[in-house]
Amino acid sequence: MFRKKCSVFRICALAIAICVIASSGSSCFAQGLVCDPSKVETWEACAKCHGSEIQVWRQTPHFKTFKELSRNPKAREICSKMGLSSVKRSDVCIDCHFTMQEIDGRNKAVSGISCESCHGASRDWLTLHNDYGGPTATKETETESHRQKRLKQSAKYGMNNTRDLYSIAMNCYSCHMVPNEDLVNIGGHTAGTKEFELVRYSQGQVRHNFLRSDGVTNEPASQNRLRMMYVVGLIADLEFSTRATSIATENNTYGINVAERAASSAVKLFELQKTFKNDYVQSVLEAFSKAKLDTNNYDQLNSIADEIQEAGRKFSVKHDGSEMAFVDDLLPSPSQYK
Ligand code: HEC
Ligand code: HEC
Ligand code: HEC
Ligand code: HEC
Repeated sequence: MFRKKCSVFRICALAIAICVIASSGSSCFAQGLVCDPSKVETWEACAKCHGSEIQVWRQTPHFKTFKELSRNPKAREICSKMGLSSVKRSDVCIDCHFTMQEIDGRNKAVSGISCESCHGASRDWLTLHNDYGGPTATKETETESHRQKRLKQSAKYGMNNTRDLYSIAMNCYSCHMVPNEDLVNIGGHTAGTKEFELVRYSQGQVRHNFLRSDGVTNEPASQNRLRMMYVVGLIADLEFSTRATSIATENNTYGINVAERAASSAVKLFELQKTFKNDYVQSVLEAFSKAKLDTNNYDQLNSIADEIQEAGRKFSVKHDGSEMAFVDDLLPSPSQYK
């Protein structure tokens, strides 16, 4: 036991020293998390019923990036270094900065990062997700079995499940980690949001918990939910940074950044595990302890990232945070929320 933990730690320390990897270019990292433009209805389709959520969203960089990015000198600089003509028409930028909709057979950027970027393109689930069982049915009259069926059907038709924290975290990291070596080393983009931590980033300006409340109050997440978010977020951070390292080909800014990040999330999980002694976290750390954070190590690192994801998903469904009071000390305080 001791030895295993030790070896994880050593590898982490080593990884920081190794310094990795930069220039493979295109990545297929999005893993199907990007919205299908032919199924996007845009935020306007939500407006009738989700006005409060829209008001919150309009104050966030997710909304504002649509207008602001193309005017941002840094964006122009990145594009010019990458040899791209326009931010809004460049495939490289749109997946993470915009929502695309298919209009007359052509994909067009219609907004920034929108409701559907996080909840899934809605064409096939829009009328399903709020159907309590016909025109006369209400939330109060809906049976539990109908509710279960409704949620299951919505998920089947592409709605992301807001109960499944690991999937939520993956959704955030699909944009907040930037697994594109050229974009970073040549374009000068960041390799991802350096300080991204799920609690800190989800509980500030982007929080919109009106539904669980009275419709006008934006309810803070429960303590158990915060604990879960913290641990699940760390596991996802390790998965995505390990995967990002897998495509590094040069010992340069990109590779160094993502490998250091993997090492540092592993250290955090390792520290937490000293108290937690959790089987799933153990599996995550054991998977990572095999990792050789080096350039051109795609197969190994990608398959380790898969193992981390598998354990993370299990962790996310098997726990609810109630037995995790020790995490409270690690949580960011509300004044640190983004
Ligand atoms: C006609 C009204 C209506 C429209 C339009 C609508 N919603 Fe909803 N939505 C609801 C209602 C009602 C619920 C609560 C369902 C329940 O009780 O489970 C809900 C629930 C949700 C939830 C929470 C699901 C969960 O897992 O608990 C999300 C997310 C959501 N809607 C997103 C959207 C998005 C995104 C759009 C636009 C693309 C949209 N909705 C359009 C009425 C609507
Ligand atoms: C489709 C891509 C995408 C997804 C999904 C996404 N983000 Fe973002 N997010 C961005 C981009 C791009 C920016 C920066 C926009 C800008 O400044 O132009 C950003 C900015 C932010 C900011 C503002 C940070 C600051 O420094 O002010 C927060 C907070 C944030 N995101 C949280 C989240 C959380 C939490 C999730 C998951 C629930 C998430 N994001 C999912 C792309 C995304
Ligand atoms: C994999 C997702 C991803 C891709 C691809 C991507 N970005 Fe970003 N971008 C982000 C995130 C996330 C941020 C938020 C800042 C951060 O966390 O580093 C951001 C921030 C930025 C910023 C800083 C915004 C500010 O408010 O200062 C610029 C400029 C930018 N991106 C331009 C681009 C351009 C131009 C492209 C295409 C050539 C591009 N990005 C491609 C995810 C991405
Ligand atoms: C950056 C990603 C992101 C964006 C953009 C976003 N959401 Fe959400 N949304 C989430 C996450 C994550 C949750 C689950 C929060 C939790 O359970 O703590 C959520 C929860 C919800 C809920 C359920 C809230 C509750 O009280 O349980 C509704 C309804 C919803 N979103 C609607 C919308 C609508 C409408 C928009 C567009 C105006 C939108 N969301 C934009 C990520 C996002």
